[in-house]
Amino acid sequence: MPSAGFYIMHSLRSLRRRHWRWLVIAALFFLFFLLLDTPFAPPPSAPHPTLNLVRSSYDWSKWQPHNPVPSESLQPLPTAKPEKLARIQHVPSRHPKFDIAVQGRRRAEIKRAMQKSWNSYREFAWMRDELTPLTGTGKDTFSGWAATLVDALDTLWIMGMKEEFHEAAQAAVTLDWDVTQDTACNIKEPALLAKAVELGDMLYAGFDTPNHMPAPWLDFEKAKTGRLVPDDHQAAASAASLSMEFTRLAQLTGDNKYYDAVARVTDKLFESQNITGLPGMWPTFFDLRNGIFHNHDNTFTLGALSDSMYEYVLKMHLLLAATEPKYEQLYRATADTIVENLVFRPVIPDNLDILFTGTYHAEDPAWLETEGQHLACFVGGMLALGGRVLDIPGHVDIGARLTNGCIWAYNAFPTGLAPEIFKLVPCESLEGCEWDEQKWLEAVTNDEDGRDTLPKGFQNAREPAYLLRPEALESAFILYRITGQEEYREAAWEMFQSIQKVTETEYGYAAIEDVTVTGKPEQRDSMESFWMAETLKYLYLIFSPTDVVSLDDYVLNTEAHPLRIHKQ
Ligand SMILES: *[C@@H]1O[C@H](CO)[C@@H](O)[C@H](O)[C@H]1NC(C)=O
Repeated sequence: MPSAGFYIMHSLRSLRRRHWRWLVIAALFFLFFLLLDTPFAPPPSAPHPTLNLVRSSYDWSKWQPHNPVPSESLQPLPTAKPEKLARIQHVPSRHPKFDIAVQGRRRAEIKRAMQKSWNSYREFAWMRDELTPLTGTGKDTFSGWAATLVDALDTLWIMGMKEEFHEAAQAAVTLDWDVTQDTACNIKEPALLAKAVELGDMLYAGFDTPNHMPAPWLDFEKAKTGRLVPDDHQAAASAASLSMEFTRLAQLTGDNKYYDAVARVTDKLFESQNITGLPGMWPTFFDLRNGIFHNHDNTFTLGALSDSMYEYVLKMHLLLAATEPKYEQLYRATADTIVENLVFRPVIPDNLDILFTGTYHAEDPAWLETEGQHLACFVGGMLALGGRVLDIPGHVDIGARLTNGCIWAYNAFPTGLAPEIFKLVPCESLEGCEWDEQKWLEAVTNDEDGRDTLPKGFQNAREPAYLLRPEALESAFILYRITGQEEYREAAWEMFQSIQKVTETEYGYAAIEDVTVTGKPEQRDSMESFWMAETLKYLYLIFSPTDVVSLDDYVLNTEAHPLRIHKQ
C-alpha cells in the first residue's frame, strides 16, 4: 500500500476524527525523538540493544522539490534566546494528602490494562495498524505502517516495559516508507534520528506545491514528479497539524526547511485571524489551493476538523519557549474568542457550575449550536494550560469548569462514559440558571434525535458511541498537574473503572456503540491506536509523581507524545 501512495482525507468518516492520517503519520515522529530527548535516553554506558536501521528503499533525502523555496524567503527557526516560561505545575505539598500506596496500586492496574492490550497486539496483530479486540486479528487503517506499535512506544517506556519497548523500537526502525529492500547497518540512537529524517523528508514532499501549502494527500507518484496541489476544500487541522513535529525535527537536525514549511501556514493563520466570520478563530475548512483561510466556510468549532490547530497554536509557543511572539498573539485572541462565543453553560437539575463548548455559525444572525463533542473535551486542559503559562485572568478557572463538564457528562450516563456527540439545552449566561423541566422536554420533543429517556439536561446523544478516546482524561491530567486538586485524580479513577467495566474484551478493549444503555453495551471490533498512546498514558501519568513527564519540561503533542522544551 505505501508504494501506491496513501491518502489522507478520503471520506467524511475519516474526517470526523481527531486522529486522521497526517496526525498518525506525524505521531511516528515521536519514536525518533524518544531516545534523543532525555530523560528517556538511557545513560550512554547502560547496555541496551543495538537498533538496526533498515533504510526505506526510496531515498527521500535525494528527492528534489519541484517548487523549491527560494533561500532568501526561507524562514529559519527563531534565534532569540529562549525565555523562562512561567511555572505550569503546582508545587507538590510536602505532606501529600494522597496515599502513595493507593496511587501505586492504581498505576499497577492501569499497567495491567496496557500489558493485556500490548500482548494481544504483539500476538495477533504484530506490525498491523490495529488489533481487533473482539476477533483477535489485525487490520490496517493507516497505510499498514504499524500505527499502534509506533504510537504505543513511549507508553511502553514510561510504564517501564523496557523489553517490549526495545522489541517494538527495533521493529519500527525497519519500517519502509516505500517498498521493502533491506540494507541494514548497526547503529543505536542515530538510527532513530535517521528514520525521523527519512520520514520528515517524505512528509516535506507533501508541502512541495505551487504555493507551499500542504496537499491533502501525499500521493507518492505525484510527489516524485512534482504534481501535488493543495485542495480547495481542506480541513483546517490538516493545514496546521504538523507544526510541532516539523519544528522539533528542525531543532534536532538544524535544517530550517522543516520549520519554514510550517511557518508559512502560521503566517496565513496570522494574516487571516481577524478577518474571518468570527474574528479570533478560523473556519473549519480552508481553500488551501488559493491560500484562502478566512471566508471559505462559516462554521467554527473546537471539535473534529479544527481541534489540533488551536491546540498547536498554544503548544508551539511552549515548544519554542516563547521565541516566536506570533504564537502567543494568535493564542490570546483565539482563547478570548472561544470564551466569549463558544462556551456555554447547560440547564441541568442541580445547576452545577460546569461549561461546554459548542459550534458557532457565522450566519445572519449568528448562532451557537450547543452541541458538545468528546473530541472537544481537550479544550478545558488547553485553556487552563494557556491561562497558566500566559497568565490570562480567569482562564484556568474556565478550563476547570469545562473539564468538570466533561467529567459530569461521563457520570451522567449509566455506563459512566460520555457520548461522542450530544446536545444540551443552554442557559442564557455563564452565571447559570434554574432547572426548567418544561423547557428541556420541549427541546427534546422538537429534536429529531431527542429522547426523554436521556439524563436530564441532554437534548440528544446524536452519536452515542464511546471510542476509547482520551480527551476528558487529558484535561483531568492537565488540571491535576496545574492545580494539584485531588478531585481530578478521583474523577480519572472513576472514568477508568467505567472504561474497564464496559470495554474490556477477551483480547483487549473495544469501542462501545451506545453509552446511554443500562446493562452491557454492544462492543465494536475496534481499538484505535490512541487507546495505548494516549488514554492509558494520561491515566498512568495522573497517578505518577508529578516529575514524570513534567509539563514544565515537556509539551505533549496531539497524540500525547512528549517533546522536550528547550528553554532557559
Ligand atoms: C486580532 O485581534 C485581537 C483583538 O484586537 C488582537 O489582540 C490580536 O493580536 C489580533 N491578531 C492578529 C494576528 O493580528
